[in-house]
Amino acid sequence: MQFEQLNESGWAKTYLLADTDTKTAALIDPVFDFMDAYLEMLEQRGLSLGFAIATHTHADHITACYSLRERTGCEYVMWKDTACLGVSRYLDEEEVLMIGSIPLVAHHVPGHTNDHVVLESPAHLFTGDFLFTGEGGAGRDDLPSGRLMAHWESLQKLEPLPGNLLVCTGHEPPGTAFQTLDWNRENNPILSMKSFEEYEAWQQKVTAGLGSVSKIKTALPANLFAEIPDDIPWMN
Ligand SMILES: [Fe+2]
Repeated sequence: MQFEQLNESGWAKTYLLADTDTKTAALIDPVFDFMDAYLEMLEQRGLSLGFAIATHTHADHITACYSLRERTGCEYVMWKDTACLGVSRYLDEEEVLMIGSIPLVAHHVPGHTNDHVVLESPAHLFTGDFLFTGEGGAGRDDLPSGRLMAHWESLQKLEPLPGNLLVCTGHEPPGTAFQTLDWNRENNPILSMKSFEEYEAWQQKVTAGLGSVSKIKTALPANLFAEIPDDIPWMN
């Protein structure tokens, strides 16, 4: 198995998961800004891209999923009820996507967005913005389709999962080390909260400090309509 976080800059994280025998690869939450680097890496390693997967409708960056589908013919994979256009493979609850011989199980965890999934491999849990590492807590619930109570209730989906899974999140401050689910059960404040009120108070405090999402007015429509805008202000 090949596993790697690919993005060299920025806070958004993109993961490569590849089966060494069949050379089949998946990219989880690829970012459009880095697409050429992904394609070069895949070619250098002789990997064939089977799946470009978005854990949810991203508001903070343009996904590379539909562009990768155009360029490589891979499947663009998202939760079955997503509003995003261009998706070619819809995931159902507990559906297993085979990356060559590597099973990737989808768990629907609405809250940060209503179409959010976490993906479980035998060794990793790809959590998108549903759960961050340690003090990072969880992604905000005040963006389009976000719901605090849904997010709180979705946290129950983590309870039966093995503690040794490595938690691979959608955003981390640069230099953050990977930690297991059990480590997060001890060190992520969200996972030791006892009441919704406690969770709600945490979210309100954190989102007040975050302010608006700078790229949302470009990124969100691009991701919903599967269209790369003519003008991407941050790429000029
Ligand atoms: Fe997000």
